[in-house]
Amino acid sequence: MDFRTHLIASGGTGKLAADALLLILVGDAVPAGLDAPLAQAVGGAVAAGDFVLKPGKTAYLRQVDGVKAPRVALAAAKDGSAKAVKAAFAAGLGLLKGLGVKHLAVQIAGVDTVDGAQAEALAVAAADAVYVYRSTKPSAPAAPVLARLSLLVGDKAQAKAADAGLARGAAIAEGVTLARELANRPGNHCTPTVLAQEARKLARGHGLKVEVLERKQIEALGMGSFLAVAQGSAEPPKFIVLHYQGAPAKGKDAQAPLVLVGKGITFDTGGISIKPAAEMDEMKFDMGGAASVLGTLRALAELKPKVNVVGIIPATENMPGGKAVKPGDVVTSLSGQTIEILNTDAEGRLILCDALTYAERFKPAAVVDIATLTGACMIALGGVRSGLFSPDDELAAALQAAGDAALDPCWRLPTDEEYDEGLKSNFADVGNVGPRAGGAITAAMFLKRFAGQQRWAHLDIAGTAWKSGAAKGATGRPVGLLTHWVLSQAR
Ligand code: BES
Ligand code: MN
Ligand code: ZN
Repeated sequence: MDFRTHLIASGGTGKLAADALLLILVGDAVPAGLDAPLAQAVGGAVAAGDFVLKPGKTAYLRQVDGVKAPRVALAAAKDGSAKAVKAAFAAGLGLLKGLGVKHLAVQIAGVDTVDGAQAEALAVAAADAVYVYRSTKPSAPAAPVLARLSLLVGDKAQAKAADAGLARGAAIAEGVTLARELANRPGNHCTPTVLAQEARKLARGHGLKVEVLERKQIEALGMGSFLAVAQGSAEPPKFIVLHYQGAPAKGKDAQAPLVLVGKGITFDTGGISIKPAAEMDEMKFDMGGAASVLGTLRALAELKPKVNVVGIIPATENMPGGKAVKPGDVVTSLSGQTIEILNTDAEGRLILCDALTYAERFKPAAVVDIATLTGACMIALGGVRSGLFSPDDELAAALQAAGDAALDPCWRLPTDEEYDEGLKSNFADVGNVGPRAGGAITAAMFLKRFAGQQRWAHLDIAGTAWKSGAAKGATGRPVGLLTHWVLSQAR
C-alpha cells in the first residue's frame, strides 16, 4: 500500500479527489475548523440522529454537497491518542469494506496537530484490514483493493512527523503481514524446511545474511535439548540464523548486536505427553515467535536503523512416535546442563534453551526470546498484553515502553529466585516443568538458567499471537513491539 501525507489548506478538503474520505472526529462535539461542507454534513447527521459523537460510532454519507470524494465515512474517537484514533479508523474502514475504495483520504479532526504515532497506527490498521489469507484457500474473498492512503495534514511540520510515522507504520505492517501469513499456514505447509526457505527468501530479497544449520551440524554443536524435541518428527529440524547489519560489527564504532530468539515449533502435538484433541489445530501457531522474528527483520530491512540484529530460530515439530523423547528422559543441553524432561509438552523451553546458549557467541548487547510458551500466560493476561519477564529493570522498561508506543503492549511478571525451586530434579540439573501454579513464571525461570550472563528478557505471546473463535488467525504480534524496541536501541 502507498501511504502518504497530503498538505491541505483550509477549505480544500472538498476538492480532494479520492474514492472515499474517512473523517475521524475526536471528542464529543463537532470539531471547530472543519471545512464548511463537512461541518454541515456532520452537523446534519448528528441532528438527524444518524450519527453520535461517541467512541465506536460511525456513519456513512454518500455524495456530500461540496465534497468531491463520493463517499464520506464518519468515525468518532474518544481522544487524540494513537490508540483511540486507530480504533475509530478501523471502525470507519469497516463501513467502507467491499465498496471498492482504492484511494482513501483520512482526516483527523478535533486535534491540534496530527502526530507520528497516529499516522503509524493508521498505516498498521490499514494493512491489517486488507490482509486476506489465501495460500491454502484460493476461494477466499478477494482482498480489498485499497492501494493508497492519503493522510491530510495542515502544515509542513505535521507532514514531516506524519510522514515518518507512516513510514514506520508501513514497515511494521509489512512485518506483521509476513508474521501473520507464516503463522496462519497449516503445519503441513509450514514445516521447519519451509520456515528455513522463507528465511532464505527474506534474506535474499532484503539484503540480510542467513545461515541454516542442518541436523548434522546441530548434533555436532551438541544441542541435545533441541534435538530431543526434534527426534520424534519425520521432518528434519532447522536452526535458522539471520543477520541484519545496520552498524559496524568491527572497529572502533562496533556495536554489539541485539539478538531475537523465536520459538519455531511448526506443530505442537505435545509429544508423548500428548495434548487433547479439542483445538489442537491451533498448535500450528506455535511458531508465532519465529514468525515475529522474521517479521521484525522484514520491518528493519525497510527502516534501516543503525543497529545490528541477529535473529535465531530453532525450528522443529513436536511429535509423538517410536523415536520420540519420553517423560523422564534426561538430555544434555548445549550449555552442558542436564535436563529431565518430565513433560514433553513443555517443549518450547527445550528448544529455546539451546538457542539462548548459542546466542552467547554473538556477545549480544541484549537477547530477547519470543515464544508461545505457556497456556498459563494466556490465563494470566488473556489476549491483550504479552507476558514480559526479565531480571533486568532497564531492559524490561525499554520493552514495556516499546510495546506501549507500538500499541502492542506487554506486562511484566516477576522472576524471583523462589520460583526456581519448582524446577529441581533428582535426576538432572533441572526439570523442564514446575508446579501448575505460576506456570508462566517457572517457564521463564527455566529459560533464565540458560541465559547465563547475557542481558535477557522473555516475551510469552501465547495469548497475543493469535485469536481463537470466528476471527481465528494470527495477529502478527509482537512485531510492532520488537521493531520499536530495536529502533529505540539504535545509535
Ligand atoms: N505451545 C504450548 C503453549 C500454548 C498453549 C500456547 C495454549 C498457546 C495456547 C506449549 O508448548 C505448552 O504446551 N505448554 C504447556 C506447558 C506445561 C506442560 C508445563 C502448557 O502451557 O500447558
Ligand atoms: Mn507444548
Ligand atoms: Zn508449544
